[in-house]
Amino acid sequence: MPLDLIVRNATLPDARTGIDIGVAGGMIVAVEPGLDAEAATVIDAEGQLLSPPFVDPHFHMDATLSLGIPRINRSGTLLEGIALWGELKPLLTHEAVVERALRYCDLAVAQGLLAIRSHVDVSDPRLITVDALLEVRARVAPYIELQLVAFPQDGYFRSPGATDLLRAALDRGVEIVGGIPHFERTMGAGTASVEALFRIAADRGLPVDIHCDETDDPLSRHVETMAAETQRFGLGGRATASHVTSMHSMDNAYAAKLIALIASSGMNVIANPLINITLQGRHDTYPKRRGLTRVPELLAAGVPVALGQDCTLDPWYSLGSADMLEVAHMAVHVAQMTAPEAMRACFEAVTTTGARVMGLTGYGIEVGNRADFVLLQARNAVEAVRLKPTRLVVVKAGRVIAATPARRTALFLDARPALVDPASYAPVPSS
Ligand code: FE2
Repeated sequence: MPLDLIVRNATLPDARTGIDIGVAGGMIVAVEPGLDAEAATVIDAEGQLLSPPFVDPHFHMDATLSLGIPRINRSGTLLEGIALWGELKPLLTHEAVVERALRYCDLAVAQGLLAIRSHVDVSDPRLITVDALLEVRARVAPYIELQLVAFPQDGYFRSPGATDLLRAALDRGVEIVGGIPHFERTMGAGTASVEALFRIAADRGLPVDIHCDETDDPLSRHVETMAAETQRFGLGGRATASHVTSMHSMDNAYAAKLIALIASSGMNVIANPLINITLQGRHDTYPKRRGLTRVPELLAAGVPVALGQDCTLDPWYSLGSADMLEVAHMAVHVAQMTAPEAMRACFEAVTTTGARVMGLTGYGIEVGNRADFVLLQARNAVEAVRLKPTRLVVVKAGRVIAATPARRTALFLDARPALVDPASYAPVPSS
């Protein structure tokens, strides 16, 4: 029986080379060298890297592409970003949020980013962002798996009405419980918010993903409470602490105890290197802290650590391009993960580990999984992190949904420098 699609001569992220991938009915039916079959569409990978799609497990799609509305974040701090988002919220319309989110999703697809977990602010009584992103989730479902987190940006207890609004958002179909304990009025209120939010998650059978300790304050220890609640409610694998930048500044003795507690609880961690290298350390003179959580140490303890983009062109971040390799590249630098295996771990953090944290099923280039993958103009995962290369072809459920021409400049280590043809090169006259 002819197949729908065959990708020939691919390299996989686990370094297998010369692999053919057969696709039928939107599913992967063969992953082997020298596949003896024919297909309506055949893609020659020419030995380049075929990866499962990129995954962004931490994003804010309700704010994306809003840069400059109504103004720019001058101080670059988290707190000015929150204040600026507060100025923008009354100006939001359902249509504008949907339009910006859909534009972002187009960008994401072109970058091979096909699964996104977005926090959605539930602090506005109109719940405009909730309804808008529920619509977006439905509209992009054929090509992006979009998960939504009910996120009380202005504080679960601190913001009037947020406790009811969070429940209302979940009732409307938002599927993950969020929180922001370090933004509550007191440390005690932060602890109480974590306990309340885990109770909601457990009662409703939902995952929980909390913005936790996104501060340089080493005494912000809500992650400790999160680990304990994860254990208490048996939410291992379904509970995620996002950011946890305070861990960067914690005393090493306490951090060692804490990392063991996180590991034993089964909780996931998401670091957001692009954002935290710019937001954290803003109260420091010199030396300035990096502010990223302890990624290598958490990984060494067996904690699933994924990397998120967090923001693109919004009140918190004036850059971003939906490129998860840009996120991995920044993690390599900020966390000093430069050994080859550490760089591969950063690649996994924006692919397989992100998928695990999001609880995706049918993900990965294996027989029986969905035929979702991206062909990169790179030969292995480390080269992909280095080059942030062109996404040559993006495939969703066996269908090519995006393609970009190969870059022609000589970026590979063994490429001969042929940028200029000496025979045709003529210097511009100086006069
Ligand atoms: Fe965030």
